[in-house]
Parts: sequence; C-alpha cells; structure tokens
Amino acid sequence: MIEKISMLRAAALDKIKQAASSGEVEELRVRLLGKKGELTEMLKDLKNMAIEERKQFGQEANELKNELTGFLEAKFSELSANDVKKSLSSGSSFDISLPGTQFKLGSLHPVTIVQKEIERIFTGMGFNIVDGPEAEEEFYNFEALNIPKHHPARDMQDTYWLENGSLLRTHTSPCQVRAMQKYGAPLKVIAPGRCFRNESTDASHENTFFQLEGMMIDKNVSIANLIYVMKLLLSEVFNRDVKIRLRPGFFPFVEPGFELDLNCMICGGKGCPTCKHSGWIELLPCGMVHPNVLRYGGIDPEEYTGFAFGLGLTRLAMMKYGISDIRVLNSGDLRAMEQFSVR
Ligand code: DAH
Repeated sequence: MIEKISMLRAAALDKIKQAASSGEVEELRVRLLGKKGELTEMLKDLKNMAIEERKQFGQEANELKNELTGFLEAKFSELSANDVKKSLSSGSSFDISLPGTQFKLGSLHPVTIVQKEIERIFTGMGFNIVDGPEAEEEFYNFEALNIPKHHPARDMQDTYWLENGSLLRTHTSPCQVRAMQKYGAPLKVIAPGRCFRNESTDASHENTFFQLEGMMIDKNVSIANLIYVMKLLLSEVFNRDVKIRLRPGFFPFVEPGFELDLNCMICGGKGCPTCKHSGWIELLPCGMVHPNVLRYGGIDPEEYTGFAFGLGLTRLAMMKYGISDIRVLNSGDLRAMEQFSVR
C-alpha cells in the first residue's frame, strides 16, 4: 500500500512539472484529488485495513494530498501569469484597467418596505400575520362584514366579478372574518395584501393597491386600546411622537367607526398645501368591530369586543417616500423603484 503511494507521488509530480497550461493543471487536480480522483479512490481502501496499517497509510496519504495541492497551486499561478503575459504580447487588445462586469442587485418595492416595517412593529406587540385569497367569496367581502346585498355601501367598492360568482377582493377586511373563524377569540392579527377596485386611474387612484388590515379582540377591548395601538404604530413609522385625532366615519363593519387623522407633519398643524390647509391628514379608517361581524366570525359579542383598522399601505408608502403619483408604484419602472433600495 505504502508503495502505491510513492508510485502515485512520483507519477503525479512528474505530470505536474510537465503541464503546459493552467487548464491542464486544473484537469490534473481533478484527476488526482477530485471526488473520483486517484488519491481519493485509494483512500476508500482505508476501511479494509488493519488498524496499524490504516494509521500509517492514512498519514502518508494526507501528506501526499497536501504536497500535491501545494504543487498544483504553484504551477497553476505560474501558468496563469504566463497566460496573461502571452495574451499581452500577442498584440490582442487586453486592457487590464477596464472595470469588470457589474452585477446589479435588486431592491425592495416601496410598498414591501413599508409592509415589512409594519409587520415588525405589530409582531413586536404579539400580533400574528395572516392572509386571505385575492379572489374572494362575496360572503367574506361583503355579507359577513355587515354589507348585505343591495346595501348602498357596496357602491363605494365597485369591483371585478368572476364568472364563478367570486370577486377580486375590494379590501383586506374579509381577512378579519376568516381569522375569527379560524382562530376564535382572543385574537390579534394583521393581514397585509393586494386589493382591487374598478376605478378609473389617476394620480391618486389605481385598480390595484395594497392595504393592511388589523384586528384585536379580547375581553374589555376599548377605544382607548385602539388609540394607543394606532399612536404607537404611527410614531414608529414616522420616527417621532405623533398627534392624532378621531372623527366619526361610517363603515358598516364597525360601530362606532372613525377616520383617524394625523397632525400634518409638514406644517405642524398650521395649515399647508399638503394638508389642504386643515392641519390634519386623513390617514386610516378604524373602529370597534360591529357585533354582527363578531357573530359571523363565530364570536359572542356579549363576551368579547374588539377594534379593527384598514391601513392603506400604498398610500402610506406614497406619504413616506413623497411619491405623488400612485401609478408609478405599479409601473415596474426600475428607475423609480431603485431610489428606495433597501435590501
Ligand atoms: N375596508 C375599508 C375600506 O377599504 C377600510 C376599513 C375601515 C377597514 C374601517 C377597517 C375598519 O378595518 O375598521 O374602505
């Protein structure tokens, strides 16, 4: 066995010396030390040897491996340097000062960046992230949210109907009912996702946009909890203490329902074009979950209460990054998207 090793050493060193190009050296490396290389194959016999022999053979084989690796590397760099010299002297143009090929890394979409940030904030407060289908059943999109057929509230959310009677969901609110049915109470969830409406597009309307629904249900949940969670969310998103106010707002699935306004951060509440001189920016609708909706979700409204909110993710991303035209976000125009590159 030991003899075999010295024979291999002699033959291998000889071949390495004779190699004429870096390609040949690489071939030799594979033939000697590769997965099915000669030395590797030899080492497979180890397991059939007696202990003493195995020790000695193993040691010698390892030494040979190190020795060959060293020789191969030295020969490889010697020959590759030659390759460069040759190509330089052959007169072919080879400018070693040219910059290399640049590989561009992608970047996250602004809506994704904002979504991830909000998910981080809410999971930190013990909320779970859930989702629901984009092609939704009429029951979840409307009925179970206390919007029966022929209710005028349906008009505000004109959508695309599918031939099987389902529809492209107009908001993420159906996820509320699905989550209640699946997990019961107490419940703390957020549901980010894509929504659709039959809108004519302009700078602030798109047929496809993103929302983030939130819901918290437990015993004795009150408007105070709602205000606290919303304030915490917004001060984290905007990195400062924020002032908010609630105005009454109508949504059939909450009672009472609110529009939450944010004190304008551009003018500090004095009035400017961004807040249309009112000092406040309408930011997110929310409210206390309507007892009918709790019932549809299989939760007893006598025992539990909860709040819900629907954050316009697309709108928030536009505000955060100062994007004035919503159509940019779905345009797939990399020149616009790259500016927000957070990876
Ligand atoms: N789903 C509503 C919409 O898209 C927004 C909304 C309002 C969600 C009030 C809520 C809520 O959870 O409580 O217009």
